[in-house]
Amino acid sequence: MHHSLSFLDQNDATALEQLCTFLSMPSISTAPENASDVKNCGLWLKDHLEGIGMPVVEFHETSGHPIVYAEHLGAGADKPTVLMYGHYDVQPVDPLELWTNPPFEPTIVDGKVFARGATDDKGQVFLHVKAVEALLQDGNPPVNIKLLIEGEEEVGSPNLSPFVKTNKDRLACDAVVVSDTSMFAPGEPSIVYGLRGLSYVEVEVKGPNRDLHSGSYGGPVLNPLNVLADIISSMKDATGAVTIDGFYDAVEDLDDKERAELNGLGFADNRMKEDVQAEPTGGEQGYTVVEKLWTRPTLDVNGILGGYTGEGAKTVLPAKAMAKISMRLVPHQKNKDITAAIQRHVEKVCPVGVTATVTDLHGADPVLVDRGGRAMSAAERALEETYGVKCIYQREGGSIPVVELFDSVLGVPTVLMGFGLSTENLHSPNEHFHLDNFRKGMRAAVRFYTYMATV
Ligand code: BES
Ligand code: ZN
Repeated sequence: MHHSLSFLDQNDATALEQLCTFLSMPSISTAPENASDVKNCGLWLKDHLEGIGMPVVEFHETSGHPIVYAEHLGAGADKPTVLMYGHYDVQPVDPLELWTNPPFEPTIVDGKVFARGATDDKGQVFLHVKAVEALLQDGNPPVNIKLLIEGEEEVGSPNLSPFVKTNKDRLACDAVVVSDTSMFAPGEPSIVYGLRGLSYVEVEVKGPNRDLHSGSYGGPVLNPLNVLADIISSMKDATGAVTIDGFYDAVEDLDDKERAELNGLGFADNRMKEDVQAEPTGGEQGYTVVEKLWTRPTLDVNGILGGYTGEGAKTVLPAKAMAKISMRLVPHQKNKDITAAIQRHVEKVCPVGVTATVTDLHGADPVLVDRGGRAMSAAERALEETYGVKCIYQREGGSIPVVELFDSVLGVPTVLMGFGLSTENLHSPNEHFHLDNFRKGMRAAVRFYTYMATV
């Protein structure tokens, strides 16, 4: 292990340069025009994994974006096997004009690398790749290592889910490790043991056959934009609770012990206000910021389209309107059930005179990971040795669709050992990653794989 750690010291500049190359590829999974960029990024990763000495590297084309898989089973059957999962696809970059540097021209300023995907998730994937490379300097790694890196996480992992089911035996392991979450705070590493799920739908309301003069038709003809606004507001009551039938059926109250523990972590209520410069007054009444963020479901409009939005005024009654709506889910809500529930709700409240359709875009089931076991201890020790402080156990508000499958299909725990910070603008302009955490992350990963063999 010491040899591997000094390899990282000696190769720091090279690792950074390679990271910047990885970050320069616009692997935006949701944009059809970037499909070849996503593929090229996957191919670069495949070549890189071959270059560091992984004996088996595979490039799996799918009906969407490719999956990169590599393995090194040199530790032998008597040693544990770790599956590292991550994603090389990134979110769109809009609004482009708010980026200080172009999103795919990685720029290092004040110890941070700025680029789309820097923290989510290319930088965090790459720290594992470099850790594995460092371990390979000593010959066989201490544990068997499988790397599963996909190009569709940001669009709900539609092809990875069947891949995991079909390749269940191939992916067999003792634990999964994922670095795609944030630390609790700068200098305070955490292990995330709970992720929210997601149901994401598009609602379209159609009325008259064309845009109409709002004087000649307004009044008797229903306005699809007004109806869409009514439909959206019918989904929540004045206390912030979601009013869709059955929405809370599977939601369980937090037990007192965990509630006290999470609230006791010191996530100050003003932390979020300072971060986003807005009072965090949303969510259901009666819950703290941390409870709302990590343990309660939500319903949010992500975008609305319709009508006249140009300069000045145009008197028009639009023919249609559209909204993108997502719901974050908590244990034990099921993505399929909640998507069906919102479909029924829209059907129920949609008035005569317009039609409303709900399209399922993607989703993920929420997950809670058992906090005991070898992998958790190895991660805890690796983080504590690297950062020199106690490691925090926390939940997260975001989603990583495939993690639930590692539990339900592979039957193994997932250690969510993230090195990002929530303030690093993931999904926003000027995304960045602190190089200090990139460096510590590589070292913590070396320690994690090592301790997995010995803890
Ligand atoms: N890395 C994030 C997940 C995340 C976000 C973890 C915030 C911790 C805090 C991941 O890449 C992501 O953004 N996932 C999507 C999933 C969705 C598109 C199915 C998300 O949560 O919106
Ligand atoms: Zn991510």
